[in-house]
Amino acid sequence: MAPKQVTAIKAAVFVLALVPFARLVWLTLTGALVEPLQFITRSTGDWTLYFLCITLAVTPLRRLSKWNWLLKVRRMVGLFAFFYALLHFTTFLWFDHFFDVAEMLKDVARRPFILVGFIAFVLLVPLAVTSTNAMVRRLGGKRWQWLHRLIYVIAPLGVLHFWWMKAAKHDLNQPMLFVAIVAVLLALRAWWAWQKQTPARAGVAQR
Ligand code: HEM
Repeated sequence: MAPKQVTAIKAAVFVLALVPFARLVWLTLTGALVEPLQFITRSTGDWTLYFLCITLAVTPLRRLSKWNWLLKVRRMVGLFAFFYALLHFTTFLWFDHFFDVAEMLKDVARRPFILVGFIAFVLLVPLAVTSTNAMVRRLGGKRWQWLHRLIYVIAPLGVLHFWWMKAAKHDLNQPMLFVAIVAVLLALRAWWAWQKQTPARAGVAQR
């Protein structure tokens, strides 16, 4: 694919990824939200999870479709997962608890699923910080790749956070869907890694 086309795709992804944020700002400023705090927390949580899943889907999609350009947007999509997680966390920290640590701890004791979300968020930070080309060079490809495998822990933690929250409301349809999506995306990787390690088996499977 020509560099110009890649740039156009990147620009389109960038604009599309900002649409949920722009919608949130619009709904908040126009006073259209009945419960703004709850709506913003839930919407930013949802979009964090969607972007984590899209990031995880890039490699399998590229392998299956042979669309190598997909790799060029993976980093941006991952950064948008961090962007929405940061908004989600900030909403909790600032608008929900006004930086009152004691109140926050009380809330975490009452709703422990928040702690799981917090761990997932903390693990996302080093990935966002090391997302630049300069950091890839500094760390070296292999170490960078290892670090970025944290996404395999972060996505299941995000799903667990969601599951736990919804379990209290006996509403597990959506969390089950996300368990299935993340499980398939991780299982595909495990399968390919296993085949790579045992080329003989891969040969047998192809015959
Ligand atoms: C990778 C990190 C995270 C992901 C993927 C994530 C995802 C989600 C999702 C999908 C929801 C449910 C939204 C819905 O009902 O539609 C949610 C709710 C929630 N999250 Fe997170 N979250 C993350 C990190 C955090 C962090 C760091 C905190 C705060 C320290 C947090 C606090 C909350 C709270 C309080 C709710 C419940 C909102 C309510 O009851 O209205 N999350 N999160």
